[in-house]
Amino acid sequence: ATVAVLAGGLSHERDVSLRSGRRVAGVLRDAGLEVQVLDVDSELLPRLAKLQPDVVWPLVHGSTGEDGSLQNVLDLVHAPYVGSEAAACRLASSKPVAKALLRQAGLSTPDHAALPQSVFREVGARGVLDAVERDLGLPLVVKPAAGGSALGVTVVHAADQLPEAMVSCFAYGDVALLEKAVHGVEVAVSVIDVEGGPRALPAVEIVTEGPYDYDARYNAGRSEYFVPARLNEAQTATVHDLAVAVHRTLGLRHLSRTDMILDDEGTAWFLDVNVAPGMTETSLFPQAAIADERDLSDIYLAIVEAATR
Ligand code: DAL
Repeated sequence: ATVAVLAGGLSHERDVSLRSGRRVAGVLRDAGLEVQVLDVDSELLPRLAKLQPDVVWPLVHGSTGEDGSLQNVLDLVHAPYVGSEAAACRLASSKPVAKALLRQAGLSTPDHAALPQSVFREVGARGVLDAVERDLGLPLVVKPAAGGSALGVTVVHAADQLPEAMVSCFAYGDVALLEKAVHGVEVAVSVIDVEGGPRALPAVEIVTEGPYDYDARYNAGRSEYFVPARLNEAQTATVHDLAVAVHRTLGLRHLSRTDMILDDEGTAWFLDVNVAPGMTETSLFPQAAIADERDLSDIYLAIVEAATR
């Protein structure tokens, strides 16, 4: 089969995406597939028309890669593709929307407020603080409502940190999510959904000295990972169940990765789901796949095959 891996694009996560694209292409080539890595620019459609791939694997992270826009274009040209369909991507990639839908389905996610930049300009940092102190309290996490790799994310412990946190958040998006901080073990659970329904891969536990920021994510050695996570049987079931429930509730397809915090009482709190999870050397999905009973290339081949059907 011929696979077109789409990587790059215009999002803030362009570099991460190029690394993900190269790594996935390498694995698929080693498994015997013909693979082209295409950047997502104005030449994309002519290149796809020329290549006529059997399947496209969109690996653009953040904004247009995960919000359904790229998937809409692939639908337009009738290209079969890996991953969730456009409508599901749209819901999943907006953290406030995903959180609302999942809470409605009975899953736990920290309290939050969504704040467009236009409102922030009107009420100012003081107005935001008043609302935050009334409704959420500190500490809280300020993050862009869409996008990933922890870009624009700040943990705010004291009121005087809020203005700067809002400014760095709005550098990455027009809507901020202010989320109550929850304490516990940071866990990421990847899901594959290729035959017989969605299944959780071994949970990855993330341990960092400071915040799990961009640097800690993509520089080898800056974070410590435990795969499978150091959890007991009940905790493992809880985090696996949350990831599978998120995947099902949001109508996702083929693969996803849910990031969560497991607290001391045993509640797993949904933070975020990725429809195009990172696939770099230090990323979490491949670490989970390597630790699974099926190996990495077997899992990637199964995903390609499911998308080709
Ligand atoms: N958004 C990045 C790519 C990740 O979560 O892996």
